[in-house]
Amino acid sequence: MQNRQTNQFFNFDKFPNFEKEIDLKQRAWIEVKGKAIEINVRQLRSKLSKNCKFMAVVKADGYGHDAKVVSEYAIKGGASELGVATLKEGIKLRSFGVKKPILILGNLYTKRDLIKSFKNDLMPTISSIRECLVCNNIGKHFGLKFALHLKVDTGMSRLGFESNKFVQQFEKIKSFENISIKGIYSHLSSADEDGALNFQSITQLQRLKFNKLLKQINLDSSNQIKIHLANSAGMLLSRDFHFHMVRVGLSMYGYSPLDKIDKNLLLKQALSLKVKVAFIRTIDKGVSVSYGGKFVSHRKTKLAVLSIGYADGVPRNLSGKINVIHNNKFYPQVGSITMDQMMVDITDSNEIKVGSTMLLLGSDGDKTISPLEWARKSNTIPWEILCSFKNRLPKVQVD
Ligand SMILES: Cc1ncc(COP(=O)(O)O)c(C=O)c1O
Repeated sequence: MQNRQTNQFFNFDKFPNFEKEIDLKQRAWIEVKGKAIEINVRQLRSKLSKNCKFMAVVKADGYGHDAKVVSEYAIKGGASELGVATLKEGIKLRSFGVKKPILILGNLYTKRDLIKSFKNDLMPTISSIRECLVCNNIGKHFGLKFALHLKVDTGMSRLGFESNKFVQQFEKIKSFENISIKGIYSHLSSADEDGALNFQSITQLQRLKFNKLLKQINLDSSNQIKIHLANSAGMLLSRDFHFHMVRVGLSMYGYSPLDKIDKNLLLKQALSLKVKVAFIRTIDKGVSVSYGGKFVSHRKTKLAVLSIGYADGVPRNLSGKINVIHNNKFYPQVGSITMDQMMVDITDSNEIKVGSTMLLLGSDGDKTISPLEWARKSNTIPWEILCSFKNRLPKVQVD
């Protein structure tokens, strides 16, 4: 077998970027506008009081955008802390040289993982006395204090100390000498639901419960413990949810979880999803397209076959429900979305060719397709759309 250098037909070494270029834009890819993240963070921060900090939530590879790029631009926009879900995500950010405080929002329960977290200067979320004790022992072993955040459950029933035991347990935690409590937080379960601000809504009850607990533990203001509760929706609802810091994901990426937000807040969609036309064919009237023959042409139809499918993270249940943009014009996707390809009706276009680039998500001229629209049409939430994109889609930073 020939190796690369001796390939008699092609000298790859003459074209150092050749393979890289092919890899990135050969079939389908995600483009990330770092600047949009920076602008969004700046705008969102303008809604906070002067002393309220902004934690950029960059878990799940920055909601599918590339955590490294997102972190860099979120920090440029003024984020002072970062939130990840896992130990691995935190270690990866540190390996990129990120120096800001990083909170692991998921739960670490083994001594081994907590030691790794400590060694990588990551703050774990602590939900029990047992975990607190392990952290204290680790701190003691290294002759240092282990920085961490305590979480209290106010209605999500996921992670966090039980609210009715927290006050008593906090008394005990205060006696641990080798931990440093950097934050106390809770998480809202329903801030993006209609009526979240109504009297006695789940969200208001969570806030009241959180406030009551904070009053009971009677923190003195010199202790530097950051109190935080709000996600994007909580942050956009009212300053009552802001406390010392907000933890923002979705809206930093350019999407509001609420139907109504301040008209002056013009969030910019940071992600575009682009795809190449791999093949073009013309079919007669009455011909079925794709698996199951769910679409049958009602006229002579020119089809573009796009190199993207559900194995890339496009939900299959969007089949026949979405459009694709080319040169500021919409073209309907037709037939079932397959694992690696989908078909688009381009009968009305003379300009789309094999190798043309089409836009599945993002803006072109005055046309925009947002993950919010995909989420609505596929009966899910925008978070899931963003986090479903697979590694098969390269991420390209553009500005
Ligand atoms: C604990 C926690 N805080 C904050 C966020 C950010 O939420 P959002 O993307 O709605 O801003 C998340 C996301 O799921 C979360 O799990």
